[in-house]
Amino acid sequence: MKNFKRTTITTALPYANGPVHIGHLAGVYVPADIYARYLRLQGEEVLMIGGSDEHGVPITIKAKNEGITPQDVVDRYHTIIKKSFEDFGITFDVYSRTTSETHKKTASDYFKKLYEKGEFVEKTSEQYYDEEAKQFLADRYITGTCPHCKNEGAYGDQCEACGTSLNPLDLINPKSTFTGSTPVLKETKHWYLPLDKHEDWLKEWILNGHKEWKSNVYGQCKSWLDSGLQPRAVTRDLDWGVPVPVENAEGKVLYVWFDAPIGYISNTIELLPDTWEKWWKDPETKLVHFIGKDNIVFHCIMFPAMLKAEGSFILPENVPANEFLNLEGDKISTSKNWAVWLHEYLMDFPNKQDVLRYVLTANAPETKDNDFTWKDFQARNNNELVAIFGNFVNRALVLTHKYFEGKIPARGELTDYDKETLQEFENVKQEMEKLLTVYRFRDALKEAMNLARIGNKYLADTEPWKLAKTDMARVATIMNVSLQITANLAIAFEPFLPFSSAKLRQMLNMQSFKWSDLGNFDVLKDEHQLNQPELLFEKIEDEVIEAQVQKLLDTKKANEASNYKPNVIKETIAFDDFLKLDIRVGTVLACQKVPKADKLLEFKIDDGMGGRTIVSGIAAHYSPEDLIGKQVCFIANLAPRKLKGIESQGMILSAENADGRLVVINPLSEVLAGSEVK
Ligand code: 2FM
Ligand code: ZN
Repeated sequence: MKNFKRTTITTALPYANGPVHIGHLAGVYVPADIYARYLRLQGEEVLMIGGSDEHGVPITIKAKNEGITPQDVVDRYHTIIKKSFEDFGITFDVYSRTTSETHKKTASDYFKKLYEKGEFVEKTSEQYYDEEAKQFLADRYITGTCPHCKNEGAYGDQCEACGTSLNPLDLINPKSTFTGSTPVLKETKHWYLPLDKHEDWLKEWILNGHKEWKSNVYGQCKSWLDSGLQPRAVTRDLDWGVPVPVENAEGKVLYVWFDAPIGYISNTIELLPDTWEKWWKDPETKLVHFIGKDNIVFHCIMFPAMLKAEGSFILPENVPANEFLNLEGDKISTSKNWAVWLHEYLMDFPNKQDVLRYVLTANAPETKDNDFTWKDFQARNNNELVAIFGNFVNRALVLTHKYFEGKIPARGELTDYDKETLQEFENVKQEMEKLLTVYRFRDALKEAMNLARIGNKYLADTEPWKLAKTDMARVATIMNVSLQITANLAIAFEPFLPFSSAKLRQMLNMQSFKWSDLGNFDVLKDEHQLNQPELLFEKIEDEVIEAQVQKLLDTKKANEASNYKPNVIKETIAFDDFLKLDIRVGTVLACQKVPKADKLLEFKIDDGMGGRTIVSGIAAHYSPEDLIGKQVCFIANLAPRKLKGIESQGMILSAENADGRLVVINPLSEVLAGSEVK
């Protein structure tokens, strides 16, 4: 294997159109963080790059739905995402964003350089155009009937009912989502990266040069390369993104998948304006991309082609992409709120970052899709973290305090059993290193847990508490060995469970440590004073798990109840029935989340009649601060009902989109609070 001087680790830049969930953590950020921490412990030079991906059509759609700007959307989620990563101990050297000035300039210059080198081909093609809105339509902005399953709500790029990838031209009866009008085909010019011209070297580089890549990654690349590469457009007609920096390109921006990977470079430049190049251009730097499987083609084919076309950059050495993590048997879905959101997890399980890091690594989707279940979460916490690791450490520390006043006792001669234990420990350590080097974090964690198991078994077999009355010299040896193992565990677990490792080191009063200390059984010197022990992990009770499961069941029920049925009209009613409804416009004076209720927002509404409180189930769709000052329509004569102890005096009206998203109904221009809707 080639020897490198330093490692540049990139992590897929998450789209800033929603918070991050366990799927993100398991697929990309925890494995990348384990790898970075491991290399740093080995004393290697490492740079770990992250950031938010803030361009692309989904962000513009979200903004449009909420009546805010795309910049508002990304400002909101960039902050939430960045905080979640910090809270989970993901050690980015830089976490920036693709709307930064540095990025816009870097991406724009990159495009210009390739343009000037003649690396693009220009092509004019016909694309759908909305004549009323006077704009070209991104695939997601066109809906119509799926030619395969006849679903009437299919998007221009995909039918979500049957899962088929579509081209907007495939749709039957296409409609613009802006105006509802039928779009027309109109010519537009774009720049394409001719991937077909890169095919030969890509084949050689990946299929012959990188046979060691994970089989899921290698297999996907092979299938793309075998079926032949096509030129890929790197610009779009859109008003959100990095403007195309050439003449006669008004209204065009760089395609989000062209600008996003350049974000890795921009973020390095932002952090290290003078020395960034060594991380991207020196052949002695190892470049590793951590991503999810949906990003493989972009990181193994498109971005390398962009790097090669520029000419002065290195190529990735490895792309250890993961498969997907499902949740309780179903695909994680942001729009269906089928996820465990990281910021919510920490509200429900404060200070238990490591439990989630542990479960997501032990069950990581490294080779195939995997399932996260709350039962498994509980079992791994209670049967592994508490019963093995925590139990061993606690017994070792408590017994030392009991028999030796918290000071490391000197050990006497080792028995054969002691030596066997230490030898076994040494073997496991070597195995762990092998696995970490080849990105097999799940198995490496299993080995770390085996180290704890060895310790636990050692104490259970030697039973020092039984010898305390008769043979304190032997007890001293046992406790010394146990504490050296404990110190070793603090090192071995640091990449995986950094918070617990820090806590353990504090209890051990252990100052500095490095990976090479692992396997050293003199890490703690005789007479070294320990601090007071605390529990490393605690049992998670059934009720806590049941509450989480219930939360998901509620989400499922809500999703089922809210089936989008644009063509199914309820039974006809008489005009008199309609007149019974008293619908009014009000202005939101205050709005806040209802504690312990994920879905509910509590509104104070100026209804022109002295004000009222309404509780509404739209917390998953809006942040309270975005609604304050806005006008809403509400049913004013609905019988009051209590929700989470709050009396709700009416119902706020909203419309439901095809993906289950709720959008509050708001008058086109402001009216007096209390105005009747007729
Ligand atoms: O799939 C995603 O979430 C993309 N935003 C990943 C981008 S990775 C990189 F290219 F920035
Ligand atoms: Zn379909």
